[in-house]
Amino acid sequence: MSKGEAQTGWRPDGWRTRETAQQPDYGDSDSLDEVLRELAALPPIVTSWEVESLRRSIAAAQRGEAFVLQGGDCAETFPECTSDIIVARLKVLLQMSLVLSYGLRKPVVRIGRMAGQYAKPRSQPLESREEVSLPSFRGDLVNRESFTSGAREPDPKLLLRGYERAALTLNFVRSLVDGGFADLHHPENWNLDWVGHSPQADAYEAIVDRITRSLDFIEHSTGRDLSRLRRTNFYTSHEGLLLNYEQAQTRLLPHRGVWYNLTTHFPWIGMRTAQLEGGHVEFFRGVANPMGIKIGPAMTSEWLVELLGVLNPDNQEGRITLIHRMGAGRVGEVLPPLIEAVQRQGARVLWMCDPMHGNTETAANGRKTRRLERIEEELDQAFAVHAEAGTWLGGVHLELTGENVTECVGGARGLNEADLDKSYRTQVDPRLNYEQAIELAMLISQKAAAQKRR
Ligand code: PEP
Ligand code: CO
Repeated sequence: MSKGEAQTGWRPDGWRTRETAQQPDYGDSDSLDEVLRELAALPPIVTSWEVESLRRSIAAAQRGEAFVLQGGDCAETFPECTSDIIVARLKVLLQMSLVLSYGLRKPVVRIGRMAGQYAKPRSQPLESREEVSLPSFRGDLVNRESFTSGAREPDPKLLLRGYERAALTLNFVRSLVDGGFADLHHPENWNLDWVGHSPQADAYEAIVDRITRSLDFIEHSTGRDLSRLRRTNFYTSHEGLLLNYEQAQTRLLPHRGVWYNLTTHFPWIGMRTAQLEGGHVEFFRGVANPMGIKIGPAMTSEWLVELLGVLNPDNQEGRITLIHRMGAGRVGEVLPPLIEAVQRQGARVLWMCDPMHGNTETAANGRKTRRLERIEEELDQAFAVHAEAGTWLGGVHLELTGENVTECVGGARGLNEADLDKSYRTQVDPRLNYEQAIELAMLISQKAAAQKRR
């Protein structure tokens, strides 16, 4: 985003003149205004120099010099803002990044779907049960889940509660990343019991053994604690959905002359909010953060090219990540024309695969689930499509938790549909558990490394 672009014809509240999808209907605008004033005065969650450093790292991933791991909950919840859950989520992401970095021999950029992933797009504004229709639950930042009219009423104060939890989460993550987790790579911290169930057990054990031994070797030979050798960067992301919230923390940095959305390092928009004339595209064209655009099978080449023209008119490196989520079986047919259109346009983008959202299904017991085989199939096909097109698939986007939940089926331990009820805890989409996430990281690191050699 050039200075001129941000300063002419764009205002942080300009989106209000556009039709804006997925916004809650706050009945009481006085209390909303009061909350937004308070939010605008509170300090930012992230800083512009961190945002710029992420943009440079994404630019490196675009050039094939790094790989991005973006992962976390589908929706964070307020009650799950606890130390155990945050530690477990951070641990699984850091261990996955070690596996990826080891396999790829490249730096891995880590982006958590956390510290603000509290708002969800919904396909219907109302939910009906028997004779009663109430506003849909849109995430803890908007309203409450239980099916009563009081709970479903959008409550502006939740924007403040979400801001606070985002800040608490990131504060804890920063401390862990800076000071703790020094022993992350020690074998006893890997919980590898499941490996014995995998046909690839020997290969996996060898990977972890080599990672832990190389890190140990470096520690002993340098006499230094590895966690302090190089500050581990860890970034946050969330869907930039509720524009009141995003706008309130968007600041003009006078020394840079550009606007940053300081609720997060990396916001993304989904297809439900990617209308060219809509409020979201208007808002995000004016902020300088690197950003993601989710693209599904309904994306067309024309739409995509226009979106890139509006959201990155200067074709800046590191600005745009295209997160494709096509579904196994569809990706081979729908992705190639989009890649071709982007290549023809000469647009600089990072290609990232979300193999989760196109592969959600309903199990026999009515639970939403995802099969690890389908997730792997989509990844396989996506790597093949990019290899064919000569593009670098430089990142993955996953929904996962560090907890031992039973929400996705498959994996080395062979979770099946009957197991889903054992520990099904997600508020929205099914997540990979710790074991499934590490297993998937091992597979991805093999596929991504093979890509490197092509
Ligand atoms: C999500 O990432 O949780 C989500 C809603 O994805 P999508 O917009 O791709 O369906
Ligand atoms: Co989701």
